[in-house]
Amino acid sequence: MADLGNNDAQGPPTRPSYFIRTFGCQMNVADSLQYARVLENLGCVRAESDESSDILVVNTCSVRAKAEEKAISYLGSVIRERALNRRESRSSARGGIVLVGCMATVRGNEILRRFREVAAMVPARELESFEDRITSLWPELVASAFDDRTSPLPRPEERFERFVPIIRGCINKCTYCIVPYARGDRLESVPPSRIFAEVEGLIASGVKSITFLGQNVCAYGSEIESGGYGFAELLGDIRDRFGDADVWFKFLTSHPRDVSDDLIAVIASHPAFSRHFHLPVQAGDDEVLRRMGRGYTSAQYVGLIDRIRATIPDSRITTDIIVGFPGEDQSAFERTLETIERIRFDAAFTFLYSSRSGTPAEKWADPIPVDEKKRRLGRLIELQNRIALEKSRAKAGSETTVLVEGPAMRAASKASGMVAGRTREEEVVLLGGGADDYGRRIRVRFVEANLRSFTAERIDEKSTA
Ligand code: 5AD
Ligand code: SF4
Repeated sequence: MADLGNNDAQGPPTRPSYFIRTFGCQMNVADSLQYARVLENLGCVRAESDESSDILVVNTCSVRAKAEEKAISYLGSVIRERALNRRESRSSARGGIVLVGCMATVRGNEILRRFREVAAMVPARELESFEDRITSLWPELVASAFDDRTSPLPRPEERFERFVPIIRGCINKCTYCIVPYARGDRLESVPPSRIFAEVEGLIASGVKSITFLGQNVCAYGSEIESGGYGFAELLGDIRDRFGDADVWFKFLTSHPRDVSDDLIAVIASHPAFSRHFHLPVQAGDDEVLRRMGRGYTSAQYVGLIDRIRATIPDSRITTDIIVGFPGEDQSAFERTLETIERIRFDAAFTFLYSSRSGTPAEKWADPIPVDEKKRRLGRLIELQNRIALEKSRAKAGSETTVLVEGPAMRAASKASGMVAGRTREEEVVLLGGGADDYGRRIRVRFVEANLRSFTAERIDEKSTA
């Protein structure tokens, strides 16, 4: 680890720069923003790139082996690039790499040993200790060398849409899942007053879409004597306080077992609430669900979806599915396909089961060859893609509102003056437009459905700013 002393012996001290690379879920995205704030409050400025930054924070995910492999290979290559960059620019090393997030909890020590350039780690469950860790590594950050601080400009991606964590940790202990180990097996809900204050501040700063986050948002308040004040009650208060504020309120993720009729009713009660439910089903076979420790049967899950759709016909339902859980035989897999046919999800994230160290399922016999699992995954994806495309195509010609986020990412769309945004239900939409549209809600008509996005045309040029 190198100190943050001046890298240019001639001039006044230049402020240390930082860069944050985020892997994994939206909770990590929200946490990265918090790390960025801490660093900026300490006087650091955002670097152009990871290889040129003084401090590089790598926020990691452990949910599947693949997520971990990605971060490891990233570390290897970014370390090489940073060394090269320093050689080329003839600058001496300043700062170093800080590993944060779920891998820091479950494999932190191993990574510290393996990569000398990683100066420190802060496990996901010790988010609050990030500042102390940074200032003990680089005490010069608390000294006065960088006292020409300016308040940081919001990053483009946080101007209109923000994630607000409302509950951390998970107590469900699904038998395949590393999250309770990585993120904590105690629940910690953010007090309502803090959530209201944060929402108020975000609205005042022009944010137009707020997503309440939790490993299971439906568990909100359940760990404290809250007199029955849970997620439905929180949303009721959000509606009463901010329902008319021209903001969409979304939420992620919900455990199917914990979605109450009260929650469905409160979401139906106001157009500010997104009708998008991300409800991981994981499997369609009761025996597999039981061994996963999910706490519902396939019939109960289907019943929940029917209740949501009966109350909220325009709901959009997405899911996560794991293929190849230990002991999933051919007929169990067929039942998952049947469930998918029955429910017709708008979209699904599909995963090959990945054995995670320390979880109960790690020790279970798993005789199905990986090639067979991959074949099943292929069938599942094919079926789900067909359904998703059918459902999307059925929307062609219908009208909706899009919150424009920024330029379309695909080079071809970018070149042809397209912007990208999302609907209240999290559909990705491309439409013609330019920088003036960023942060505006625009009425559109769906023209063409692709697998993961729509193209749309404007129908109302006088849309609200
Ligand atoms: N293997 C494969 N997929 C997993 N998920 C969680 N743990 C595992 C695992 N060990 C999936 C679940 C979860 C999503 C975030 O990741 O489907 O809902
Ligand atoms: Fe990955 Fe889960 Fe950690 Fe999110 S909480 S970063 S999905 S392991």
